[in-house]
Amino acid sequence: MAAGDSFYIATPIFYVNDVPHIGHAYTEVAADVLARWHRQGGDDTWLLTGTDEHGQKILRTAVANDTTPKAWADKLVADAWLPLLETINIANDDFIRTTDERHESAVTIFLQKLYDDGFIYSGEYEGYYCVGCEEYKQLDDLLETPDGDYAGQLVCKIHGRPVEVLKEKNYFFRMSDFQQGLLDLYESQPDFIQPESVRNEIIQFVKQGLDDLSISRSSFDWGIQIPWDHSHVLYVWFDALLNYITAIGYGTDDENFERRWPAVQLVGKDIARFHAVIWPAMLMAAGLPTPRKVFGHGWLLVGGEKMSKSKLTGIAPSQITDTFGVDAFRYYFMRAISFGQDGSFSWEDLSARYQAELANGFGNLSSRVIAMLTRYRDGVVPNGVELTEADEAIFAAAERVTAEADAAIERLAIHEALAAIWTLVDDLNGYITIQEPWALAKDPANAERLDAVLFTALRGLGTLAVLLSPFIPDAAAKLWSAIGGSGEVQQQNVRAAFDWTGGPLVTPLDSSLFPRIEQVEAGTTA
Ligand code: MSP
Repeated sequence: MAAGDSFYIATPIFYVNDVPHIGHAYTEVAADVLARWHRQGGDDTWLLTGTDEHGQKILRTAVANDTTPKAWADKLVADAWLPLLETINIANDDFIRTTDERHESAVTIFLQKLYDDGFIYSGEYEGYYCVGCEEYKQLDDLLETPDGDYAGQLVCKIHGRPVEVLKEKNYFFRMSDFQQGLLDLYESQPDFIQPESVRNEIIQFVKQGLDDLSISRSSFDWGIQIPWDHSHVLYVWFDALLNYITAIGYGTDDENFERRWPAVQLVGKDIARFHAVIWPAMLMAAGLPTPRKVFGHGWLLVGGEKMSKSKLTGIAPSQITDTFGVDAFRYYFMRAISFGQDGSFSWEDLSARYQAELANGFGNLSSRVIAMLTRYRDGVVPNGVELTEADEAIFAAAERVTAEADAAIERLAIHEALAAIWTLVDDLNGYITIQEPWALAKDPANAERLDAVLFTALRGLGTLAVLLSPFIPDAAAKLWSAIGGSGEVQQQNVRAAFDWTGGPLVTPLDSSLFPRIEQVEAGTTA
């Protein structure tokens, strides 16, 4: 993209029935890396995240905990969801809650418009409802369990819990009107849904035909009231999806809305259908542009299954960051899992990558180069050196890697961006091994050559600090300041990372960027 373009990225808004686990953190980190990259590239960036607080699931959790849904949501947001952003170092620009007045009033405007324009009608609905999914289910989505706690009942395939039969007078959204419009959208904008596997699944689904969508409930009142009928509240997904536009001023601040919308939307593939079918249909009905893209990333698996709190496989992000640190958390999930595919989390893999890639690969490289500049040159960065072919190869690699990483980020291939950047870490380590600056330092006759090697290695580190800042912001900032970079590393243009000219002085790192961690036994970290 061209610098200055709008880049608006949003995560799903998370249910506040429970505390976050690393699956939620995964989406947050991916969105944050993309946002930081674009921000550092000079794009007009906005990162939105938030919480989904209405609906039966939250209501029931609150009742089970002897409190009101609003008090419950307030507590979970303050004690768990906002602190998560600190734990994993998310630089979000906004945090929306569906109980915010700004959201509720803009939702009302949107609903009234759809109603006035004839896209909403009243009808009767009877169907199976899964409160875990907050969704009406078709028979194919259910299983009949022959034994166990729910013997003879129909259970949701995702949650493994019985569905409820609901029969209500509801308001309906004319979603079926948009079947062709959606298929045209998928065709004319082939990257609208990514990755390909999710795209194919959605196209298949829509081709089978769309029903109208029941969008109101009258059996409970924890939700946004339907403006023309206060005996109904809005269906929680219809409410939640609107956060992406209410947060940027839909209905109240046209200028900001125009500036930001449309968004790139990251979601887990479990909720891709809501985002790639219902959501664009809602926008089409309101005459608004559809999202730039909907990317359905894969699941973190534990024991081969989607990690989830309800199946007691949820791992709290702080279990990892307390031992490995926040940068390692961010790095690991972005590097080890191809973005778009499922990935199994394991402590052994995390520990091995930490040691090999962060501590030995990047951390060691940084401390060695800085230590040699300090020891051999009192920290003064050599200038006006004469470069050999080997040095030029490092500069060429830095330039190539900068472009490759940017192109990978543009494709949302976050793991490929990191892999590209890591080729520069490896090249620099190889370069130092071959050039042997410690051997050059033994003979004053080699002083000029040593200058060139230290200069080249330092320039490579500068490029790495800039390119890695979106991924591992703390380590990159520490490195940047040690190598004498001016200003803050997060202000340096990622797209020109290779072009760093270097500061005049380096100062020793006060501690390693990625210190050694005592052997971590699987699952035993506190
Ligand atoms: N509230 C809805 C979303 C509304 S958006 C308008 C919701 N919330 S959720 O709390 O259940 O969060 C679901 C999202 O959390 C997934 O889409 C995904 O982004 C993330 N993940 C939850 N578990 C996950 C894994 N095991 N693996 C990867 N991501 C996971 O659905």
